[in-house]
Amino acid sequence: MQSRREFHAKLLGSAIAFGLVELLRSRDLLADPIKPTVDKWFLELTEMTKDLRGRKLTDLEFQAKMEELYKRVDLKALCGLIKLDEVEAKTKLPANGAANVGFDLSKVDGLPGNLGFGKQIFGCGKGRSVVPHGHANMCTGFIILKGKWHGRHYDRMETHADHYVIKPTIDKVFGPGDVSTVSDHKDNVHWFKADADAAFIFNVHVIGYDPKIKESSGRLYLDPDGEKLAGGLVKAPKMSSADCHKKYG
Ligand SMILES: [Fe+2]
Repeated sequence: MQSRREFHAKLLGSAIAFGLVELLRSRDLLADPIKPTVDKWFLELTEMTKDLRGRKLTDLEFQAKMEELYKRVDLKALCGLIKLDEVEAKTKLPANGAANVGFDLSKVDGLPGNLGFGKQIFGCGKGRSVVPHGHANMCTGFIILKGKWHGRHYDRMETHADHYVIKPTIDKVFGPGDVSTVSDHKDNVHWFKADADAAFIFNVHVIGYDPKIKESSGRLYLDPDGEKLAGGLVKAPKMSSADCHKKYG
């Protein structure tokens, strides 16, 4: 049996603990410490972009940092800042491929005039895709804003006149807050198919960061459903945008 004194001591202890939690909460000391505000988050993105362009970071180092930063995003705050609700309301999702919508960062505190990166939102209806393509001289990354997506990545191992040799690296279901990144040397090809009626992706891309790479930075469309080679590799024929959208859009 518990004495009245012990009972009161425990009650007091709980009350003090509860009061402390409330006090910390009211002062925001229990807020997730690893999530920067979305303004600060964009500032970090501009700083690492500057380091990539200044060659203080290799593309692989930038890619790892971008992925790490992307994972720390406050998704709700990001969706608010880029006005995803308005984008969704005013965007007619295309019958083929993805809609591409811009957003404004000019009012974000502390950002430089020249961000150093391009930015957009992709939107797809159910079953439509950001079709399979690779990139040259580009680092880029996705954050899923809304909906379920089937996302696939491949390393681009070799480039030939009419085909690439690719190796599957990522093949999984992505949901809101999930991220994926691309560089010239890792997971270079991506392909995202929407599995929701209205699905949206946040994208930032840094084009032309390495003056030594002479290939143009446009999308490299290809067919990942090509001849299977030894070692899990795939011979992926080059495609035109039109043909790629016809087959995968
Ligand atoms: Fe891309």
